[in-house]
Amino acid sequence: HYHDIPTRAVLSMATRRGVAGGGGVVGAVASVLVLWLAAGAAAGLVAADPGAEQRARDRVEALPGQPAVAFAQYSGYVTVSERHGRALFYWLTEAAGGDQASKPLVLWLNGGPGCSSVAYGASEEIGPFRIKPNGTGLYLNKYSWNREANLLFLESPAGVGFSYSNTSSDLKTSGDERTAQDSLQFLISWMSRFPQYRHRDFYIAGESYAGHYVPQLARKIVEYNKASPSPFINLKGILVGNAVTDNYYDNIGTVTYWWTHAMISDSTYRAILKLCNFTSANVSNACNRAMSYAMNHEFGDIDQYSIYTPSCHAPPCRAQVQGHPHPPEVQQLRPLHRDLRREVLQPARRAEGHARQHHQDPLQMDSLQ
Ligand SMILES: *[C@@H]1O[C@H](CO)[C@@H](O)[C@H](O)[C@H]1NC(C)=O
Ligand SMILES: *[C@@H]1O[C@H](CO)[C@@H](O)[C@H](O)[C@H]1NC(C)=O
Ligand SMILES: *[C@@H]1O[C@H](CO)[C@@H](O)[C@H](O)[C@H]1NC(C)=O
Ligand SMILES: *[C@@H]1O[C@H](CO)[C@@H](O)[C@H](O)[C@H]1NC(C)=O
Repeated sequence: HYHDIPTRAVLSMATRRGVAGGGGVVGAVASVLVLWLAAGAAAGLVAADPGAEQRARDRVEALPGQPAVAFAQYSGYVTVSERHGRALFYWLTEAAGGDQASKPLVLWLNGGPGCSSVAYGASEEIGPFRIKPNGTGLYLNKYSWNREANLLFLESPAGVGFSYSNTSSDLKTSGDERTAQDSLQFLISWMSRFPQYRHRDFYIAGESYAGHYVPQLARKIVEYNKASPSPFINLKGILVGNAVTDNYYDNIGTVTYWWTHAMISDSTYRAILKLCNFTSANVSNACNRAMSYAMNHEFGDIDQYSIYTPSCHAPPCRAQVQGHPHPPEVQQLRPLHRDLRREVLQPARRAEGHARQHHQDPLQMDSLQ
């Protein structure tokens, strides 16, 4: 997915600095650590805070090309299966504007399945940093959610973004159940590394296929808390945008949204309801045609994900896009990701071939978010 190209470079540099090597910074971190441990030992705190050492190793001083900020960042791995060597990568950007200790913790999950929370949610949507168009550094996102909350971006499941498994068959046997279980295991271990977030107001948020991940993880947490004599994951709520949760209701909801927002005509709305069976994994040609008519002949230049903002197909936004065209290899990725999505979500349709144009895609939902 093309969205992760620049971030991967930026973050892997920072991660190497912060976690794995690079004399100067590690030296500095180590001396800070020694001082801290000395101070901690004096105060009798070391035993009470076993996560301190790893936390210090996870501290990200600054990302390359990053503006000065007043909040702390951490990133690193949490092992979720010792036996398989499976570890999930996280990036915590704490709340800006002071008072971070009383602000909630929000776990963010992108969907896909297969989309990176670091590359997409953090770097293009809700996180504090944006990447400059020419790739020379970062600038601040004035709408970042870290104005209100401590943001914990998790790459999930293993195989996505920087998260990995040393057992390659894990990548083939992944699924919602293990994804939820690994995320729960991640949270439990992560909260021993960051005990200041135990008992903190906690929310799970995400988009698209996280319409599966978010409620399923919430359920795991509720079950875990029930079974625990002293629960510490203080789950307060969940949020999902553009959720993929249930084919039938999602599709009916989408089409009804188009109609109630005057994006499609009464007759097209009725035709879709008549021709499409949204309970079925198969999309008939007649349904495909009706959907494609709605999208290609009735929407106009409207971005269905944000219908009241200018679409990137319309000026002046198009002028900007043309000013910074994606390189050819990136442009090629768009149809590819649609094929991939079809492979992942609609295996029954594989046989219909890859020649299908993306504008015929039934809902044209960018579910790889
Ligand atoms: C995966 O294997 C590498 C190389 O042996 C090792 O350094 C790493 O700790 C392993 N990861 C996990 C989660 O066990
Ligand atoms: C990159 O863009 C920034 C503005 O976003 C500009 O200040 C800088 O000069 C540009 N650098 C190069 C090498 O083009
Ligand atoms: C819609 O599809 C489902 C699942 O394939 C099937 O059980 C149902 O009979 C279909 N409904 C209609 C009206 O064809
Ligand atoms: C989808 O349709 C094809 C051809 O009409 C059929 O062979 C297949 O069994 C159907 N799959 C499902 C899940 O209904």
